[in-house]
Amino acid sequence: MTQSLSYSRQGDKLNSDFFEEYLVRLLEERDRSGLTDMIHEIDAIMITVDPGHSIRYIGELALMTPYHYLVTLESEDHWTHILRIDMNSPDFLIREVKDPAIHGIFRSLNEVYPIGMRKPNSRYMGEILRVTNLHDVVECQKAREFRFFSQDEIRRLQLPGNLAISKPSPYTHNIVAYMERPEDQIRTYALGLSSIRDAVQQVYLAAKAMQEELEIHDLIQPIDHLATRIYSQNREVAILEWLSLSSYYYWGSYDIHDQNSSTNVTKSAHYSNELLSPAKVFTANNTPYFVNHLEKLPSPTETFVRNYGPRLHHIALAVCDGERHDMENIDFVVRQIASQGRDFLLDVIGSKEDGLKQIFSSASEHSSLIIEYVQRFGDFNGFFTKQNVAELTHAAGVEEELLELQAQSEINGGAMTSG
Ligand SMILES: [Fe+2]
Repeated sequence: MTQSLSYSRQGDKLNSDFFEEYLVRLLEERDRSGLTDMIHEIDAIMITVDPGHSIRYIGELALMTPYHYLVTLESEDHWTHILRIDMNSPDFLIREVKDPAIHGIFRSLNEVYPIGMRKPNSRYMGEILRVTNLHDVVECQKAREFRFFSQDEIRRLQLPGNLAISKPSPYTHNIVAYMERPEDQIRTYALGLSSIRDAVQQVYLAAKAMQEELEIHDLIQPIDHLATRIYSQNREVAILEWLSLSSYYYWGSYDIHDQNSSTNVTKSAHYSNELLSPAKVFTANNTPYFVNHLEKLPSPTETFVRNYGPRLHHIALAVCDGERHDMENIDFVVRQIASQGRDFLLDVIGSKEDGLKQIFSSASEHSSLIIEYVQRFGDFNGFFTKQNVAELTHAAGVEEELLELQAQSEINGGAMTSG
């Protein structure tokens, strides 16, 4: 039996007595009930985009990541494109809504947030976790009061019929889906008609040719971590809820004092290598927005959540350790991608001496997601450095302030022309 509480605790942020008590009780029961051993790696991640955006987003991902276009599943109202590296790391499901007039639960999650509403169908939906016994996992989770979409609802949402899908989390707004698959079997998604679409294939092949020309095709590795931003008061419950739904364990939390924020890391209890099942990170302000005027504290994380809603903020990809053309690989990758017109929010930060270097891209115009690159040097066994996280958080906050101002001016401009 896997022992989810056997890992040494990292970090310097203190949790409440509530968190520490229920962390132990929830994980002990999860192990004892067999759930930890029935739930395995993140098998796929699901993203939805607005009409007309999926092909260009696939071009962006094919250039900036090691993903390959595999196939498109067409259903009545959606295209769902499958991207894959191989069976050792998660697939991407990129889902495009065909008709801008379609309203659904995922769109509703965007519509009450001032920047989120501008791309109403663009959001990270959640992860698919591989399980060994779908029926038992779902029954067990229902008994623990988790709610799932019915098979009829899944059919109407046009999501793969071989998944069990939880209702969106009240804390992260993400869903968690389960898919039964023996480890030696290929992933399949039971949805619509499958074909390789010419328009997608062309964009994909052009991006991969460019990746080779830029000499970066062999430097970018699979997903290292997924970072979700949540309201400050939901930090502990979001972590505990995710641990209850997955087979991850609590690695620890770091206080990023300068940015009034914390970074909270969970990792797979089954796979110590993040590239096989990415770490899940939660970022939350230390204090809620309405005390900022008293404490004079910065608040980039809470501001993001107020603008976009709780959601995934970035996908981090690992860069191979090493150098190319006398540059550390991460610097080379960033220079080459920037040469194609993609912006980055800051310079590459950190150093070989610190153990790792990191950078954030600007947010994708298609998914609103940021790509992080992270290169770890030698035998660095930390997950991140506090100084880097502070600088990244600050840079993303500055970018977002600009978007917010832009959104405001559009609303004001719109009011003037219509009134
Ligand atoms: Fe990150």
